[in-house]
Amino acid sequence: MKGLILAGGLATRLRPLTWVTNKHLLPIYNKPMIYYPLQSLVNAGIKEILISTSPDHAGQFANLLKGGDQFGVKLYYSVQENPKGGIAHAIGLAEEFAKGDQIAVILGDNIFSYNLKPIVEKFKKQDKGAMIFGIKMPGMESKHYGVIEIDSVGKIISIVEKPENPKSNIAQTGIYIYDKRVFDFIRKQKPSARGELEVTDLNNFYLKEGTLECGLLDWWIDAGTSHDELLHANNLVAEKVRLGQL
Ligand code: DAU
Repeated sequence: MKGLILAGGLATRLRPLTWVTNKHLLPIYNKPMIYYPLQSLVNAGIKEILISTSPDHAGQFANLLKGGDQFGVKLYYSVQENPKGGIAHAIGLAEEFAKGDQIAVILGDNIFSYNLKPIVEKFKKQDKGAMIFGIKMPGMESKHYGVIEIDSVGKIISIVEKPENPKSNIAQTGIYIYDKRVFDFIRKQKPSARGELEVTDLNNFYLKEGTLECGLLDWWIDAGTSHDELLHANNLVAEKVRLGQL
């Protein structure tokens, strides 16, 4: 299985911090943000990882992370020319890198300590399907994310991108595992109302054919949504590190 970290986009919500600096290079406690999703893929046992970023920043990622020796993996870099193409668009650009292999994708601003390794090992034995990961949110908070509705035995009923009236309190996180057919599904996608190829639409292809599964995380943070969330991520990570949980 190959790994992919998405570190593109414009991060307009974090300006002026992101006028010059790519969001995923901003500090989270004692490390640049990208270290956290990268370490999650490394811990999952994935050995080849592609970092997809925006045209102005690819060199900075390479300066920081180099060939990947310090993480014991091989790192590759690619540029998404259209920074608002959407998450599925960015995944689609990794087709050549994946070389027909399965792919685990993590959004570069997602931080969590859940160990993906057992799921990755199980998934490697499957020939088709996809996995998404949800997190329970307080109140109606899930409406700011993709919202996953599941039944009493954990089977997914629906996933809706940022609905006004969420059908559940489970938010879709930015961690996805796909079989090799993912690129064929992306080719079938049309841009959404906001002009992006949405990861939720991609995941719905798998849901429709009945091969999408959902795991639940204990904690997770999307550090890139606002200045307050960035500050919250810094404090939370500092606490997790002190407790030896990250
Ligand atoms: O964080 C989880 C959420 O991520 C999910 O709940 C949603 O279903 C999913 O659509 C996505 O929501 P956002 O709209 O908040 O994603 P955002 O545009 O903030 O992009 C997330 C990351 O992906 C960000 O770190 C930058 C990267 N990205 C994004 C786009 C649109 C790219 O690399 N390329 C892109 O074209």
